[in-house]
Amino acid sequence: MDHHAHGTPTLENLHTETRTFSPLVSFAVHANATAYEYKKAEVDRLAYWREQALQLQWKIPFTEVLDWSDAPFARWFHDGTLNACDNAVDKHVRKGRGDRVAFYFEGEPGDTQTLTYNDMYERVQKAANGLLSLGVRKGDRVAIYLPQIPEAVVAMLACARIGAIHSVVFGGFSAESLRQRIDDAEAKLVITADGGNRRGAHLALKPLVDAALVPSENHDKPAESVTNVLVVRRTGQDTAWVEGRDLWWHDVVDPQPAQHEPEWVDAEHPLFILYTSGTTGTPKGLFHTTGGYLTQAMTSHKQVFDLKPETDVYWCTADVGWVTGHSYIVYGPMINGATQVLYEGVPNAPHEGRWWEIVEKYRVTILYTAPTAIRTCMKWGEAIPDQYDLSSLRLLGSVGEPINPEAWMWYRRVIGGNRCPVVDTWWQTETGAIMISPLPGVTATKPGCAHAPLPGVVADVVDDTGRSVSNGEGGYLVIREPWPSMLRGIWGDRKRYRKTYWNQFDGMYFAGDGAKKDIDGEIWLMGRVDDVMNVSGHRLSTTELEHALVSHPWVAEAAVVGASDETTGQAVVAFVVVRSDGDGAQATGEEVAQELRKQVRREIGPFATPRTILVVSEVPKTRSGKIMRRLLRDVAENRPVGDVTTLADGSVMNAIAEGLGAGKGD
Ligand code: WT7
Repeated sequence: MDHHAHGTPTLENLHTETRTFSPLVSFAVHANATAYEYKKAEVDRLAYWREQALQLQWKIPFTEVLDWSDAPFARWFHDGTLNACDNAVDKHVRKGRGDRVAFYFEGEPGDTQTLTYNDMYERVQKAANGLLSLGVRKGDRVAIYLPQIPEAVVAMLACARIGAIHSVVFGGFSAESLRQRIDDAEAKLVITADGGNRRGAHLALKPLVDAALVPSENHDKPAESVTNVLVVRRTGQDTAWVEGRDLWWHDVVDPQPAQHEPEWVDAEHPLFILYTSGTTGTPKGLFHTTGGYLTQAMTSHKQVFDLKPETDVYWCTADVGWVTGHSYIVYGPMINGATQVLYEGVPNAPHEGRWWEIVEKYRVTILYTAPTAIRTCMKWGEAIPDQYDLSSLRLLGSVGEPINPEAWMWYRRVIGGNRCPVVDTWWQTETGAIMISPLPGVTATKPGCAHAPLPGVVADVVDDTGRSVSNGEGGYLVIREPWPSMLRGIWGDRKRYRKTYWNQFDGMYFAGDGAKKDIDGEIWLMGRVDDVMNVSGHRLSTTELEHALVSHPWVAEAAVVGASDETTGQAVVAFVVVRSDGDGAQATGEEVAQELRKQVRREIGPFATPRTILVVSEVPKTRSGKIMRRLLRDVAENRPVGDVTTLADGSVMNAIAEGLGAGKGD
């Protein structure tokens, strides 16, 4: 395995990081989490999870907690029945708290909506009836390609309500990526919008759906599984229309009766599919089921964010198109009855204080965001957040990539006024919920450290042979025991699930991350050890990008690496060999770079655009033909090139270095 550690913290500063922040007594006395829970889960892990699961609303209660007889295929609470939407919405109405605000929606242009749980109840029932009227049934897949607007949440919950399986595709993905995901899941319906708002402009979504569904360069047939496209009017921009296929959300949903009995599903009924990048070219459709996923999303949200639903205003800045939005906007917080902020836009439109203005306006108490956003705000300067009243904040969370100690300290001081606990939460699309994190009010935190597995989670750091490493040593992060919100597999590919996660170490889940135990035995995440990059918290596959590049007629070969970047954590750097027989042979390095950036945007989406594209004469490979990314990373990060003895042709790196010196880059 190509073992390297990128991102911070570095191996070195682990030994020098001595700052610790003990919980304030004033926080600890009211904290949801207690040290006792670790003990309880340690004594009887399954009893602990049973107790958590019982806090959900069950139609038929389960009798068995875990069936692991077909490992690594798990079944949790499998003989119980329930409904996710009933837990997230109906429950609150039944319990007399329907008047509580579920969402303060803030559109990018400044339009707002306040939606109570009663409002959500009405909306999800109408939407559920709307989906049924289009012939969507239990088990059918629905692709959701929407901006960050209330309808995205309503659409997800309406699917769950009728037992349909949602597959949310982040709005930053291209038509081609959307098509791949629609085909793989065989989605019957696509829910989209005319467009969304981005930095004062209208971003079109519907035209991308149109392009995705028709035959194209990569597809000789239209997307045959799709019968309808349901379109939310968000921007009001002109939209092409396919009669019979396309329908307005307001025409279909609004006239529906606001009465719908939830479809009671087995705990192991799939709730959603979410595509994520792996080490090979095609994205994996990870799927999660109902009972176990909801249990852990709910419990972790309560513990890690210390939610007090009557008084807190919680804001998770993630997009619902990623797993963070699924678990920590839609399912976890709503099951816990949270009042949330939902924001459509970016942090710096129309000005760099927009987020802090929102915190001040809604008196946000809990903020959950990504290190890349924190670093960006650091760059803009603390004078900007200083202009706003952030005194409502009482807890800060971080997710998506390792948080460097400087960013952690800045977050704590400038945003949290030195009074808010900072929780660095490690998890993945695969894990469904937070796995490693401090518990606020319990854990004494260290800047940059994710600390310990949550109660009921058994994580470890192991060496190449699968043996637990000693304190002060590094290795691979694994999960030793099944957990309720674990992925149940890869959609339509049982073998790939086993091979990707369960083949490396006997009986353990391999996360793909490097990690280290410090002298106290606490866990620090060190970045991916496989060919997955993390750019602004977005997960990208090097091979997927290489595929996108070589599918361009100018390109003979491509090698992609993730190079450290001060703001985005990692940035995509591509090395390409241009075909001598193509039109690209005449182009300058800059022209090639421009053309290929367009290619990546078209094939994957704008968020995957390479920062740097370098034209080279050859790509370094081992004798068995494997690209030596380690060497290219050295070049991309301006380091002296490491050991080249395993290269098939040792002179390649010299040629690359000389070529770059001659200014053939971008
Ligand atoms: C990968 C999973 C889970 C929501 C967002 C990303 C990295 C995530 C942390 C953290 C260090 C982190 C890992 C992981 N990662 N959180 N707190 N510290 N690394 O979900 O797209 O499935 O990516 O993100 O490398 O494997 P994802």
